[in-house]
Amino acid sequence: MPAKITIRNNGPLRIEGEFTIVDQDDRPFDLGGRTVITLCRCGQSNNKPFCDSAHKTCGFDSAVIARVLPPPAPKPA
Ligand code: FES
Repeated sequence: MPAKITIRNNGPLRIEGEFTIVDQDDRPFDLGGRTVITLCRCGQSNNKPFCDSAHKTCGFDSAVIARVLPPPAPKPA
């Protein structure tokens, strides 16, 4: 199953399916066999980039509704 990312209202990004999470040097995280993971969106996790539920007590407020984005800006030649 391709990766599916769900934006949780007032919470994390939930990723499920087939995915790999890497750092900026392309080193993969060992997720210990997890097939579902949540990434912090509030910035308050003590286990970044993963969610540790800090969003529940820090007042994070971000409800998201899916929408259409404009086309990407053309890259300079
Ligand atoms: S979204 Fe859960 S700790 Fe940040």
